[in-house]
Amino acid sequence: MIATVGDHTVAWDDAGTGRALLFVHGFPHDRTLWAHQRRALSSLARCIVPDLRGFGESAGATFGPAHVARSVDAFADDLVALLDHLEIDRATVCGLSMGGYIAMAMWRRHADRFEGLILCDTRAGADSDETRAARGAMIDKARTEGAAAVAAAQLDKMVGASTKVARRDVVETMTAMMARQRPDALVGALEAMRDRPDSRETLRSITVPTLVIVGDEDVITPPAEAEAMRALFPATTMATLETIPGAGHVSCIERPSAVTHAISDYLHR
Ligand code: MLT
Repeated sequence: MIATVGDHTVAWDDAGTGRALLFVHGFPHDRTLWAHQRRALSSLARCIVPDLRGFGESAGATFGPAHVARSVDAFADDLVALLDHLEIDRATVCGLSMGGYIAMAMWRRHADRFEGLILCDTRAGADSDETRAARGAMIDKARTEGAAAVAAAQLDKMVGASTKVARRDVVETMTAMMARQRPDALVGALEAMRDRPDSRETLRSITVPTLVIVGDEDVITPPAEAEAMRALFPATTMATLETIPGAGHVSCIERPSAVTHAISDYLHR
């Protein structure tokens, strides 16, 4: 579907019925990242899968600068505007990496809209000085060389070692997904990630059932980060950690059945 929501045009998939499951892609991805989960989980839940502002089909050559978000708060508010548009009060929010940073911002700003939380291949801490400097270099690359160059620079860490050897189709899918994004959307998202706050206190304030997922070959947000996050949730969230064997940073597309299974188990719980 595609519609004007608030001040911008949003594209999203809406599949299934029942409780809402809102999927949030990472950087520099689009909603096709969650294709397997949308297909497989729509028998269990209403899967809402948007392209974030400026990404995927929520972008277009004729769209102006308002079509770029520069903070995780702005992305979070966009998601709530979409829930409002769809007349959905509460959703389980499932974010991967940057999608996780956005989900944590959404909790800070709109906790009453959550039914549950799933954090995949993400981290609670803010960027280190070194990472902030690397964001600056990537912003320059996006501006001067474009999305294909950003994709080439991201690819090595984006997918796990097993995927590189055995799943060339996934490597190609991820390369194409990253290379087709708008450079100004990449710049806005890089600024948003660079400037995001530390979310460790946020995790201590979560009150809804929570699942953490991580690929055991994730080198961007490694399993130790996932375990550190899980330890921060209050006991009442019954937070569990699922480690996905043979998956890197984009576990949901590298080992789609395993991630879908983990989410399905969580929904049944
Ligand atoms: C992502 O996958 O969203 C990014 O790799 C996250 C990051 O760079 O911190």
